[in-house]
Amino acid sequence: MRLARARATPPPTPGEARLVRPSVRWRDSFVAALEEGFRRGTRPPLRPREIARVARHFEAHLAERTRQTGEIVLPGGRRVEGVPVSLHWLVAGETFIGELSFRHRLNDYLRLSGGHVGYGVRPSLMGRGFGTRLLALAKVEARRIGLDALLVTCHDDNPASARVIEANGGVLEDIVDDIFGGGPLRRYWIRLSPSA
Ligand SMILES: CC(C)(COP(=O)(O)OP(=O)(O)OC[C@H]1O[C@@H](n2cnc3c(N)ncnc32)[C@H](O)[C@@H]1OP(=O)(O)O)[C@@H](O)C(=O)NCCC(=O)NCCS
Repeated sequence: MRLARARATPPPTPGEARLVRPSVRWRDSFVAALEEGFRRGTRPPLRPREIARVARHFEAHLAERTRQTGEIVLPGGRRVEGVPVSLHWLVAGETFIGELSFRHRLNDYLRLSGGHVGYGVRPSLMGRGFGTRLLALAKVEARRIGLDALLVTCHDDNPASARVIEANGGVLEDIVDDIFGGGPLRRYWIRLSPSA
């Protein structure tokens, strides 16, 4: 009698990863990533109770994340105009890998802190080139909507993000104080070639 041997699925490679619109197809993998501590940008990971709520009301969660808000309230109460944002997931097959939040244009506050993109890779797949791949695909997306440069910011104490930006052609403009109080913030411009 031959015994069937369970084969572990090999982890995806950056070349297989593509950007998609978030969908229920990747719900289980996304929730597993949240349980690993996945976070985008500087937000803290969700707590177990919040993750359970996302899993239960997944479609409502997606709708909320992709809702276009009219105004943003800055620290100190000043209100600034919101900008169009699109949310993308980096996936390979059925695996959720990371997330890209793409601001289609800048306002005064994004020009200082935040820039055009926010991104994150799930902890179990960090350090394998997916962050670099994600930003490379963001450049293609930016080119597609007609931008010729991307402003990308990261905190001075986030060397992995700085490496990702520099690997994608980021040129350091300056280091400013984060208006949200997160400490020194590096501002990079990435010029986009027509073929991005
Ligand atoms: C930043 C982030 C997206 C990078 O994703 P990733 O998949 O690990 O990125 P990559 O594997 O493509 O590359 C990471 C690079 O940073 C380097 N790196 C990783 N951790 C590092 C550290 N602590 N110190 C210095 N370099 C580091 C890697 O060696 C690699 O450099 P290399 O290409 O020269 O070898 C990921 O760490 C993340 O999601 N962090 C939490 C959210 C976040 O900080 N988002 C960015 C906000 S601006």
